Amino acid sequence: MAAKKTATKSAQPAGSSSPASCVYKWVTRAVIAFVLYLTCSFLDRIKDRWYVFTPESLHQLAQAAVRAHPDDINAIIPYIVSNLTAEYPASVTAINTNSSEWVLNNAGGAMGAMYIIHASITEYLIIFGTPLGTEGHTGMHTADDYFNILVGEQWAFDPPKLEREVYRPGEVHHLPRGHVKQYKMHEGCFALEYARGWIPLMLPFGLADVFSSTLDFWTFYHTVRITARENIRNLLIGKI
Ligand SMILES: *[C@@H]1O[C@H](CO)[C@@H](O)[C@H](O)[C@H]1NC(C)=O
Ligand SMILES: *[C@@H]1O[C@H](CO)[C@@H](O)[C@H](O)[C@H]1NC(C)=O
Repeated sequence: MAAKKTATKSAQPAGSSSPASCVYKWVTRAVIAFVLYLTCSFLDRIKDRWYVFTPESLHQLAQAAVRAHPDDINAIIPYIVSNLTAEYPASVTAINTNSSEWVLNNAGGAMGAMYIIHASITEYLIIFGTPLGTEGHTGMHTADDYFNILVGEQWAFDPPKLEREVYRPGEVHHLPRGHVKQYKMHEGCFALEYARGWIPLMLPFGLADVFSSTLDFWTFYHTVRITARENIRNLLIGKI
């Protein structure tokens, strides 16, 4: 009897709102969406002012490192890091010089490890790779991505082009923002990866697998800890 009563009650039309309040609600939502859009497009236009690195200088550096130490990732990494600390004063950008700080990473079906050299809101610079080889989806990103191959090869598939793209040491694979491909780190490969744009929007891709697949919360903790620490070091010197 009581159940029947409740059912009858909830079956009443819930829309007690008048047409006027409905219009008001939708106008408010439209205004909020428009303001959000203006804010985002404004932020997008001014993001370049915080860039410290350039894709060209990092490409030159990657090429010089590959020439100095062909096929030797253990020598290439210190070469790159000591060049960066010499080129960019600590007052301009924070560089993480601890090259033992590697974290595993799973994203888009691929697995490797990364050493975060620089992380801020508009740029990141990492060494990413694996000696085993891996393959997956690049992810759809709000940042431009420059993948400078240091050792090994990276292959990419960009349909409708049915031939593979091959990137070798000293070459750079530029993935413009919003563009997606299948990629493979062929037989093991390490790269200097530089991304510029709105980095926080890329993080869900880099971290989601811990919840849906790996459950490796230890790695997740270290990834977040190092990323946050490097972001704060940059914010403290006014680098966003
Ligand atoms: C860093 O590398 C670049 C590119 O090879 C080079 O032009 C520059 O002189 C290097 N800087 C230092 C301090 O070694
Ligand atoms: C460098 O990173 C490793 C690995 O996280 C850590 O054990 C070590 O204490 C760090 N060294 C410094 C000087 O912070």
